[in-house]
Amino acid sequence: MKVTAIVLAAGQGTRMKSDLPKVLHPICGKPMLWHVLESLKHAITEKPVVIVGYGAEQVKAFAADSAQCVLQEPQLGTAHAALQAESLVKDKADYVIVTYADMPLLRGQTFQQLLETQRLNSGPFSLLTVIADDPRGFGRIVRKADGTVAAIVEEYVATPEQQKIKELNVGAYCFKADWLWDALHRIQKNPRKGEYYLTDVVELAVKENLPVQAVVHHDLIETIGINTRIHLAEAEAAMRRRINEMHMLNGVTMTDPASTYIEAGVIIGKDTTILPNTYIQGDTIIGERNIIGPNSHIRDTKIGNGCKIFMSVMEGAVLEDGVDMGPFARLRKGAHLGRHVHMGNFGEVKDSYLAEGVKMGHFSYIGNATIGANTNIGAGTITCNFDGEKKHPTEIGENVFIGSDTMLVAPLKIGSGARTGAGAVVTKNVAEDTLVVGMPARAIKKFERKEKKK
Ligand code: UD1
Ligand code: MG
Repeated sequence: MKVTAIVLAAGQGTRMKSDLPKVLHPICGKPMLWHVLESLKHAITEKPVVIVGYGAEQVKAFAADSAQCVLQEPQLGTAHAALQAESLVKDKADYVIVTYADMPLLRGQTFQQLLETQRLNSGPFSLLTVIADDPRGFGRIVRKADGTVAAIVEEYVATPEQQKIKELNVGAYCFKADWLWDALHRIQKNPRKGEYYLTDVVELAVKENLPVQAVVHHDLIETIGINTRIHLAEAEAAMRRRINEMHMLNGVTMTDPASTYIEAGVIIGKDTTILPNTYIQGDTIIGERNIIGPNSHIRDTKIGNGCKIFMSVMEGAVLEDGVDMGPFARLRKGAHLGRHVHMGNFGEVKDSYLAEGVKMGHFSYIGNATIGANTNIGAGTITCNFDGEKKHPTEIGENVFIGSDTMLVAPLKIGSGARTGAGAVVTKNVAEDTLVVGMPARAIKKFERKEKKK
């Protein structure tokens, strides 16, 4: 059985008041459209088709890897949008799911359920509905006496009686493929709006006396559609709760999930504890038994097991097992901390490797450096890696003792076992097991005194 999907994403989303196409607005760090494509994966077997229109190039640039994109130009309504996929999808699948890209909270299991319902339906399609007190402008579902669907009535044409109907059209349909294309061609332009409405497929099926089935949903949250930034914030909160619950069910402790911000796609191992006001974003993978937070910000970082990260910030970093850092430590891109590295307050590391057991307790900057195992970096140490034009490397061996406030003027090599005195300014390579000290200030130039302007 082959199943594919068509995702309608050509509309502008005027009410978002944005230059960014609506379907690219992020929810928990990933575009709305990403969430829809992720959920669909649970039900489809073939590559889906995304219908693009407004901001087509941007949407295509995002979706091209995971979907085939087709341009709908001009945008003449939802039926017209679905029809654009005909040449790509016709005869290539047994079932076609059609859904809207502005419904990002629909779950994979919901699409599966829709597919299962249609597989048992002798009629041409099934659709998803929800029972809700607030109709939010959705189409109303009119039922026949036998329980099958009689019509979808859009709000603006609904009679006062129909407006009271609490069953609404969510905007997800599963069609028998061989019925769909002919039906889409037969849909007439809506005389009031001048658009071709996908919802008119119900009328076609009913005329042919074919049963339309509905999967009734009661989880209102799943059916939040995004039309404004208020809806976007509602969806963000709902998705955040869903992500946090998934991690907690997988064995992650969160002392306050309401103030824990984890983006979609982040992986966290069991018995890790996340403390409040912590942001974990991008391609981050975290192992087991870590304690992270409070007040930490982690992006695109790989963290091993048993680390302690207290009030710190990191991006593009790697932390091996047992790293202990913070408060107020910062890792920038390319920072790699080996096992049991200790990094205390106000340290910054960029593009550097600190081998196992390195200690860097206070106020240091390490950039473009490699530091051997068990070396101690004294308070206030700076790798002077930038000469105003270029970055230069610093190599420090194992078991080195760098005294407080040492300036390491790169390019520079410090041999294993070497030591520097407090306040040393090291400009030349230091041999193994050697102590270097000092750099007394000395006059090298006399300036002309200038009168101070008042
Ligand atoms: C639609 C349904 C309505 C349902 C509601 C649920 C129709 C006619 N109505 O209304 O019954 O309750 O969704 O969310 O289908 N799009 C295109 N090309 C177009 C027009 C729209 O790709 O020419 C896309 C939009 O980008 C959007 C989706 O289709 O993702 C739905 O369009 P929208 O205008 O939001 O329809 P609704 O008025 O919400
Ligand atoms: Mg809509």
